[in-house]
Amino acid sequence: MKRFFALPLLLFVLVWFAGSASAETFTCLACHSAMQGKVRTEGGALIEVNVDGDRYAKSVHGGFDCIMCHKQFPSNPHETAKAGAVSPGIASLAGKLAPKAKSDPVALAVCSECHADAYKEWQDSVHGRNIIEKKQPDGASCIDCHGSPHYITPRNTKESPVSRTHIVKTCGECHKNEKISEKYHLGTHVVERYQESFHGKKYTLGHPNAPTCVHCHNSHQIRQWEDPQSPMAWDNRTKTCGTCHEGATKKFVSAITHRPYGKDNPIPYYFEKGLIVLLLGVFAFIVGHVILEAFSEIRDKVLRKGKEEHHE
Ligand code: HEC
Ligand code: HEC
Ligand code: HEC
Ligand code: HEC
Ligand code: HEC
Ligand code: HEC
Ligand code: HEC
Repeated sequence: MKRFFALPLLLFVLVWFAGSASAETFTCLACHSAMQGKVRTEGGALIEVNVDGDRYAKSVHGGFDCIMCHKQFPSNPHETAKAGAVSPGIASLAGKLAPKAKSDPVALAVCSECHADAYKEWQDSVHGRNIIEKKQPDGASCIDCHGSPHYITPRNTKESPVSRTHIVKTCGECHKNEKISEKYHLGTHVVERYQESFHGKKYTLGHPNAPTCVHCHNSHQIRQWEDPQSPMAWDNRTKTCGTCHEGATKKFVSAITHRPYGKDNPIPYYFEKGLIVLLLGVFAFIVGHVILEAFSEIRDKVLRKGKEEHHE
């Protein structure tokens, strides 16, 4: 690492942060915790240069040196990495993640060194394949769901984007996006349909057992629902729904869908139409009644006024 800073400053920073990570990391933070705002990389992506040292220290990876993930640097002001810092396996994976990475595909690939199981499941999922096989930037990467790699907290903490509180919003970042839904024929408005369902309403009301997206679709190994390995494939549905609805039958499990009411789902469709007509009818009746009442009151007043004038 270059000596960017005079020794006294470095020593001061060292003493200040004493305890967790190494001098190398303090050097990184000396710049990155002071810098604010976003810069555009050579590749054209807009990246956040600020890393909040305190928040980083409190995260699950807070004890790690920055260079455990950032093993090499593509550009100034950083020194080029030592030869061999990146293993061939990681280098090859980094190449495959390039469509998704904004600043450092190697760092994104390094997650696999410590989280091999999660990585393998993800690589096999519809999201992983979108990036690695289809070479698209749209599928969810680890940090699309878990948030900034610098501030990850355990999944059961409130601030985690994958916590029960936030997971629907996190999946919704893409699954509410019309462009993505159209491009991949994902059925528009799946999130809204969920929110309107029994489950979504119970979830919003805080029912502790109402399913969120990941109860029905998995967290890492998410597949198209027609895929025989998806928990929502017809053959697996009685089992998946059965974890909460004991003895769920084939007929019962067909009750849940994100599809809008329509010809596929006619009974609720006509029921809802009927309800709208009924509501409009009641509304028209009330409005009509109010207008007539107001009208008769005005007429009475005018008549009374006329009479009073007559008396004078
Ligand atoms: C002298 C100040 C300085 C120091 C020290 C420094 N950086 Fe940076 N870093 C920058 C600036 C400025 C940028 C934006 C560069 C650009 O325009 O691409 C940056 C960008 C980055 C990026 C985005 C990718 C890239 O290369 O543009 C990463 C990742 C990064 N720094 C990590 C680190 C790590 C890890 C360390 C410690 C080993 C470190 N930095 C030390 C100033 C610094
Ligand atoms: C657990 C692994 C990990 C650690 C530890 C880590 N980073 Fe990162 N960092 C990443 C990943 C992954 C990215 C995003 C790469 C991408 O999208 O191309 C990233 C991105 C960045 C960026 C660019 C911001 C952006 O929006 O892409 C900077 C700057 C940065 N890191 C600095 C640091 C500094 C400074 C430290 C140490 C205090 C650090 N990182 C520690 C994994 C890590
Ligand atoms: C050097 C090893 C290492 C690397 C590299 C690493 N992690 Fe971790 N990660 C850990 C350890 C250790 C923990 C804390 C123990 C645990 O909960 O599994 C952790 C915890 C996590 C958790 C929290 C799990 C929970 O409790 O909910 C997530 C999410 C996570 N890491 C994602 C990532 C991502 C994404 C990357 C790549 C940007 C990454 N990790 C890179 C070692 C690593
Ligand atoms: C589509 C969203 C999504 C993506 C993409 C994703 N995760 Fe997760 N991850 C989750 C959810 C949701 C949980 C919490 C599951 C639970 O509560 O049981 C989780 C839990 C975890 C955990 C803790 C539990 C465990 O399985 O060990 C780790 C570690 C983790 N993820 C790492 C990663 C890594 C590494 C990647 C990238 C390869 C990744 N995740 C990609 C949604 C995602
Ligand atoms: C109770 C179980 C359940 C929950 C909860 C659930 N889904 Fe689904 N999901 C399904 C079923 C069943 C299908 C199969 C297609 C259909 O009937 O709509 C599906 C299909 C999908 C599809 C593909 C749609 C298509 O037309 O091909 C997407 C995308 C999706 N779900 C995302 C989500 C997201 C995001 C959430 C959370 C907001 C969620 N799901 C919550 C059961 C569920
Ligand atoms: C960064 C964007 C992004 C995020 C975040 C994201 N997804 Fe996706 N998801 C996609 C894209 C893009 C596809 C289509 C990939 C393809 O077909 O190549 C997809 C596909 C799916 C499918 C398969 C739909 C089908 O065709 O049957 C399901 C199910 C799904 N996602 C569920 C989820 C769930 C659950 C979450 C949250 C835990 C989530 N997604 C988070 C982008 C995202
Ligand atoms: C994580 C647990 C969980 C899973 C998984 C789950 N549900 Fe539910 N479901 C609930 C809860 C909780 C309620 C609300 C019960 C109540 O308050 O009466 C509910 C309500 C319902 C209702 C409303 C009528 C009733 O019986 O209360 C239907 C229909 C239903 N679920 C079908 C399904 C189907 C089909 C699946 C699988 C695709 C499924 N559920 C998966 C927890 C779950």
